[in-house]
Amino acid sequence: MSGTGPVGVGVIGAGVISNQYLQNLVTFPDVRVVFVADIDVERARAQAETFGIPGAGTVPELLASDDVEIVVNLTIPAAHAEVAHSALDAGKHVWNEKPLTVNRDEADALLAHAREAGLRVACAPDTVLGAGIQTALRAIRDGRIGTPTTAATMMLSPGPESWHPNPAFLFAKGGGPLLDMGPYYLTTLVSAFGPVGAVAAAASTAFSTRTIGSGPLAGTDFPVEVPTHYGVLLRFENGTSAQSTFSFQSALPRQGFVEITGTEGVLVLPDPNRFDGPTTLYARGAEQPETLVESGSAAGRGTGVVDLARAIRAGVPERASGELAAHVLDVMLSVTDAAETDAFVPIRSRVAQPEPLPEGWDPAQQTL
Ligand SMILES: NC(=O)c1ccc[n+]([C@@H]2O[C@H](COP(=O)([O-])OP(=O)(O)OC[C@H]3O[C@@H](n4cnc5c(N)ncnc54)[C@H](O)[C@@H]3O)[C@@H](O)[C@H]2O)c1
Repeated sequence: MSGTGPVGVGVIGAGVISNQYLQNLVTFPDVRVVFVADIDVERARAQAETFGIPGAGTVPELLASDDVEIVVNLTIPAAHAEVAHSALDAGKHVWNEKPLTVNRDEADALLAHAREAGLRVACAPDTVLGAGIQTALRAIRDGRIGTPTTAATMMLSPGPESWHPNPAFLFAKGGGPLLDMGPYYLTTLVSAFGPVGAVAAAASTAFSTRTIGSGPLAGTDFPVEVPTHYGVLLRFENGTSAQSTFSFQSALPRQGFVEITGTEGVLVLPDPNRFDGPTTLYARGAEQPETLVESGSAAGRGTGVVDLARAIRAGVPERASGELAAHVLDVMLSVTDAAETDAFVPIRSRVAQPEPLPEGWDPAQQTL
């Protein structure tokens, strides 16, 4: 490993989301994608060919490459921990897709492994580093709504089995609307309010099986193993609160609803699963709402990998840290506990409230 210049990246998991990652990562000058691996080696080869990546093959082959400094782990949630540990064992830093892992012990063990090895584990979502959410977070930091007091978020959809060709993992442990979509909304809320102190929740499941709607397996039924609707009440450590709904069982989609209320106004944020989108300020007493000027990058998935690469070279903390993802995972698993026990569940973990990115930060610039 050179330790200077662009940072070498190896992608493990050549499925649906690898398209967005590879499309962007090959254009970012501060990283160089050198290898794609998958348990399905043919799939890895096809993605490498499509995106002009020099190496493709098995996971051990990727991990043996000295040119790979960051492993971008795009496997399914149940494989996240195992793949990330093997990357750390091989001396690589890790960028993980969300959720970080499927349980708290796995998350703690992974972060401990990274600390002991002197390596990083960073984690999606990086959508919150995009222009949309960053513009809103800067407005909150700058006092545009006074002191933030409450929030409401809503993510209602029929579920992803209509468009995802292999959707069973999205309805298995580590999936469902909470673990699949929760990271976008909850990372945004933690960025606005700081860490969550306690949660209460109610959950339900409308259908015990679902049917694959696209790809070669279309028409195949598969089991639903996790609740597909959660109504959640969050109490933040600083005494503020939020209500969030996560649902894969609504025929009427209402995605990307995030509203943050403060003493001096209300901010309507863009979809936290996007990198861009307008933020609207309803200031107390103002006659008209104001659409804030959006500032930042909308370059897309892979943005957080560039931040990690720059942070490694500079010896400073990365934004989308494993600690932040572990707190969000702890919150989500506590929501499942709360729904099962009908009680408020205190959150064990804490994390510092992330600072907004500096204005003008751009993953497409060459800095290394
Ligand atoms: N699909 C999306 O729109 C989307 C969006 C954002 C984030 N994500 C996240 O990205 C991850 C992958 O999602 P996806 O939709 O691309 O799934 P997918 O099933 O399409 O792809 C996963 C790939 O990982 C490979 N894989 C599984 N276990 C492996 C292992 N142990 N070693 C090597 N390869 C392995 C599979 O063969 C498959 O090619 C998930 O964590 C998901 O939450 C997906």
